[in-house]
Amino acid sequence: MDGKTRVYGLIGDPVEHSLSPLIHNSIAEMFKENFVYVPLPVKKENLGEAIKGAYAFHFGGMNVTVPHKQAVMEYLCDIDEVAAQIGAVNTLLWTKDGYKGFNTDIIGLEKSFISDGFDVTGEEIIMLGAGGASRAVGILLARKNAKCIYILNRTLETAENLKADILKFYPDARIEVLGLDEYGRIPGFYQKKFNVIQATSVGLSDATKAPIYDDDFYEHVNFGYDLIYNPLETLFMKKVREKGGKAVNGIHMLLSQAVASYEIWREGAVNE
Ligand code: ATR
Repeated sequence: MDGKTRVYGLIGDPVEHSLSPLIHNSIAEMFKENFVYVPLPVKKENLGEAIKGAYAFHFGGMNVTVPHKQAVMEYLCDIDEVAAQIGAVNTLLWTKDGYKGFNTDIIGLEKSFISDGFDVTGEEIIMLGAGGASRAVGILLARKNAKCIYILNRTLETAENLKADILKFYPDARIEVLGLDEYGRIPGFYQKKFNVIQATSVGLSDATKAPIYDDDFYEHVNFGYDLIYNPLETLFMKKVREKGGKAVNGIHMLLSQAVASYEIWREGAVNE
């Protein structure tokens, strides 16, 4: 580190267990760039001051995680179009007018869909969950013209709200809402195999839990994509594999979103 080192970081609460510092500092080392990325624990009530301070310190950019991904939006000078549609920002870039917000979760997810061969365009896709992570997935599925998006969630109302939000931006999208145990109502379910995205928090840090347990369901999964990467094999993934399907965890998405943030910052630094 020297007088020219550029400083980046992760704001959230908690941030101790994040892999982002390791990922970003490794990328910087690989490219021999004078860049450091640090964890920045910020409590909800201090978010505005933290952003102001970081800007004054000329931190080149930041990642934003729970619980600030929505709240941070009011402190930005500009928000990328897709991030605004998702209603969440995970990457900030220093600009002369303030921080601009992006959502690289969706960029990372799109890249990892392509590299993992998870086909979306023209496909009927089942998405489990309707929470924060599902918003980015749902918007991406609509952007990529999935033939139909089946949102299966424990709470139907949350899923209906997500459906309405996606339709605001993509009025032609076909979206159906069902409970987690209602997959059998998907037209032709038992005659087909589906690409399924597991976007609930069930199974996080617990390899004995899955949002759906029935073997019946897993027999009809062609490719199961779990956004969770801890554990590396979730029960959802295990069940998909046991029934002959392909399954991946969220590591590719995590790495791809990090690379996408890094690219935004590098380009920003060059143009500054
Ligand atoms: P994230 O940011 O990880 O998406 P979230 O916004 O809290 O977290 O969303 C969690 C998702 O997991 C939701 O879809 C939630 O379902 P509800 O809308 O019914 O709350 C789902 N989820 C969490 N715990 C669950 C459980 N025990 N069984 C089924 N679904 C669960």
